[in-house]
Amino acid sequence: MTSQPIGFLDSGVGGLTVIKEALKQLPNESIVFLGDQARLPYGPRPTEEVAHFVQQIAGFLLDQHIKALVLACNTATAAALPILQAKLSIPVVGVIDSGSQTAVKVSTGQHIGVIATEGTIKSHAYQSAISHLAPNASIEGLACPDFVTAVEADKYHDPQTNQLVADQLQYFKAHPVDTLILGCTHFPLLIDSIRSAMGADVTLVDSGMETVGVVKQLLADEGLLNTSSQSERPKFYTTGDVNSFSAIAKDWLQLSELNVSHVPVEQ
Ligand code: SIN
Repeated sequence: MTSQPIGFLDSGVGGLTVIKEALKQLPNESIVFLGDQARLPYGPRPTEEVAHFVQQIAGFLLDQHIKALVLACNTATAAALPILQAKLSIPVVGVIDSGSQTAVKVSTGQHIGVIATEGTIKSHAYQSAISHLAPNASIEGLACPDFVTAVEADKYHDPQTNQLVADQLQYFKAHPVDTLILGCTHFPLLIDSIRSAMGADVTLVDSGMETVGVVKQLLADEGLLNTSSQSERPKFYTTGDVNSFSAIAKDWLQLSELNVSHVPVEQ
């Protein structure tokens, strides 16, 4: 069991920000990742539809004999985490609780901002998780769906995207926060632009990155950490275009060779 892979899923390339951290923190583990690019963005879709897609992908990853499942997507976590935790016999981890816990811990004044997709903001999942941990915290949520589009279009290095980020995060000038949660796994690809828009006084929390620490602890607690150092090369699947997925994945993960395959899905 311990040598079986960990499955990760996202609506697209955003989950690669979690994979990057998993490759650092869990170097012995084999990884299988699926990005559902054919059906992204998940953010504007109804919750039930996202939950249906996520269960389909979980089924595909279970067929790869995964020992744990990580929903490396905030919209997917908000829509389907409790459903999958109730249904599956393997550990299932989402990204919202770990980001919230870190934000509450590092926030100096408990003025916490969350940027995410419309689906995640509307779900109030961060608001509930943070209020549970810190009932007096003030929470400012801002939906930034255009950030997802820019990342998926491989435009995260473009000056226009930098300007888009600066313009949208102006919101926090009128609604100041001391800590900002990147509540979408696509957003760490824009971290330089986000940092420069928010200024050095605001602490940024990358929910996906925090999640990898939680996954590591969970695997250790369950006796599921791979004790052999012979992990397989990560396997990547996209329901979209293999070439565009590979271009972003190679750039972001700094890998020259990638094992990427296409998986068809109903649209
Ligand atoms: C999206 O597909 O809208 C982005 C999903 C996410 O990371 O929340």
